[in-house]
Amino acid sequence: MNFPRRMMFAVALACSATTPSHAQAFDAHITIEADRPGAVISPNIYGQFVEHLGRGVYEGIWVGPDSPIPNTRGIRNDVVAALRRVRIPLVRWPGGCFAELYHWRDAIGPREQRPRGVNTAWGDEVETNQFGTHEFMDFVEQIGAQPFISVNVASGSPAEAQAWLQYMTGPAASGPGQERAKNGHEAPWKIPFIGVGNETWGCGGNMTAEHYSDVYRQYVSVLKPYGTLIASDANSDDYAWTETLLTRALFRHPPDMPTTLAYIGKQAQIGMISVHFYTFAGNDWGKKSAAVGFKEEDWAAAMDRTWKTDDLISRHTAILDRHDPDGKVGIAFSEWGAWWATEQNRPSNLYQANTLRDAVIAGLTLNIFQNHAARVRMANLAQMVNVLQALILTDKEKMLLTPTYHVFDLYQGHQGGTLLPARVTAPDYALKAVKIPSVSASASRVNGVITVSLVNLDPRRAANLRLEVQGGHYSEARGRVITAESLDARPTFDGPDPLAPRAIDGVHVRDGVVSVVAPAKSILVLELRATALKSASAQPH
Ligand code: AHR
Repeated sequence: MNFPRRMMFAVALACSATTPSHAQAFDAHITIEADRPGAVISPNIYGQFVEHLGRGVYEGIWVGPDSPIPNTRGIRNDVVAALRRVRIPLVRWPGGCFAELYHWRDAIGPREQRPRGVNTAWGDEVETNQFGTHEFMDFVEQIGAQPFISVNVASGSPAEAQAWLQYMTGPAASGPGQERAKNGHEAPWKIPFIGVGNETWGCGGNMTAEHYSDVYRQYVSVLKPYGTLIASDANSDDYAWTETLLTRALFRHPPDMPTTLAYIGKQAQIGMISVHFYTFAGNDWGKKSAAVGFKEEDWAAAMDRTWKTDDLISRHTAILDRHDPDGKVGIAFSEWGAWWATEQNRPSNLYQANTLRDAVIAGLTLNIFQNHAARVRMANLAQMVNVLQALILTDKEKMLLTPTYHVFDLYQGHQGGTLLPARVTAPDYALKAVKIPSVSASASRVNGVITVSLVNLDPRRAANLRLEVQGGHYSEARGRVITAESLDARPTFDGPDPLAPRAIDGVHVRDGVVSVVAPAKSILVLELRATALKSASAQPH
C-alpha cells in the first residue's frame, strides 16, 4: 500500500466509509503470533486466469493495433496499467475448457492468415485466433507477469504439447526457435508453469482419475524439461481424485532407488496438484444467485460456501501430507471465484456484475489461501477481465476496476511475506441454516512490517476488533477499508466508485494493543510497524 507520509503515524485517519448499524456491534479478539513465523506466502496466489470466453480476451485485453482504444501492439493500455498497479504475478491461459480444443499452430504467424475457428466450449462463437502465443507472451511481459500455459489433453497429444513448448522455449538456432524468430520473436521465452489438462474429469476428456493419472505420466515424460508441471484438478471436494493421482502418478518405484522419497527428491513428477472451486449462493450449480439485487439469505449462503475453501484445502493437504511428507508438491487453486446467474441475452459470456459481496468473498478466500501458504503456492482468479469474478470490466473504450480489484490492491502487502498465524475469537454469523465465523484474519511480515487483512462478513453488525501481537511490540497502525451501505453496492462505468478503498478512521494503538472498528460487511487491511521487538524469535522476515 502506498500511503502519503503524513499518514504514517496514524492514530486517527480520515475516513468516510459508511457503517450501517442494523444491529449492535460485537467484540472480536485477534492474536497474531509473530513469534511463530510460518511459510512464505507465494506472490503466485494472487494469479489470474484468462480464457477465450465472452469478452475475456477480445475487447478485455486484445483490441488490435488499429483500434481507436489506446493500445500497445493491440493490447489495451488501460487494462495493462491497472494490472501493473496491483502487481499481478502470473496469468493462466488459454483456458479452461477452451484449452482442451485449442491448437496453438492456428494462432501463430501473420494474423491476417490465421484460420478462423469455432469456440465450441463457449457458445460456438467465432474464434479469430488474433490473440495467440506471441500476443499472450507480449501481454504478460507488458504487465510484468509470468505465463502459465495449459496444454490440450482432450483433443491434443503429448507431441503437440511438446512441439508448443519447443516453439516457445527452443534456442534461436533450433528449428522451432527459427520459426518463432520468423514470426517475430527471436529470443526464447521461459514458461515456468505448465498445466497438463483442464478438468480432465469433465471437458478435458471425461476421464477417470486412474486414466488421467496414466495419461499424465505420459505427458510428464515429454514436458518435464520445460517447467513446473501442474496436474489437472480435482473437482472441488473430489478427494478420491487426489488420492488416486498421487498414488499412481507421483510414485514410481524404480528398482535402483532405495526409497520413494529419494526418487521424488530427484524428479518431482508433479510440481502442484490443482483444485477448482467456485462460490455460488449455496452448493448447487443449477441454482445460481443473481449478481445484484439478492437477499441476505444469498449473502449468507455464499459466505458459507466460501468458507468451505478452508476445509477443502485442509483435506487435500492431508492427502498430500501422507504421500509427500516433505512438502515438495504444492496446491494450485487454478480456478476460484464467484459464479452468479449470467445475463440471459448472452449466457455464454459469463459476464457478471461485481459488488461488495464479491469483494468480501475475495478477501475471505485470499485470507484462506494465505493461511495455507505451506501448501497453496498458486491460485488463479476466474477470470481476470469481463468473465465471472473479474478484476476489471470493460465496455468498449470504458474500463472499471471492480470491488475485487480493490481487494487485490489492498492485499499487495502480503506478497512474499512470512505467514504469521492469526487466532480469532469472535461470535459466529448465523442466518437460518448458516452458522459460520464472522471474522477472518490473516497476517504476514515483510522487513519487520506486519500486514493484517481482516474480513467482517456479518452484513448487519460492526466488529470492535482488538489485535495483539504475540512476540512483538507495535506502536504504529494504519490501514484502508472497503465497505458500503448496500449488499450489492457496485461501481458503474460513469459514476463515482462507492467501493474505492478509504483510509480507516480511528485506529488506536495503546500498550501494544490495536483497536479498530470493522464495519459490517467490510475488508480492512492494516499495516503495523514495530518500534521494538521483544524476543530473538520475532526477528523481521
Ligand atoms: O471459468 C469457466 C470454466 O469453468 C472453465 O472453462 C472451466 O475449467 C470451469 O468449469
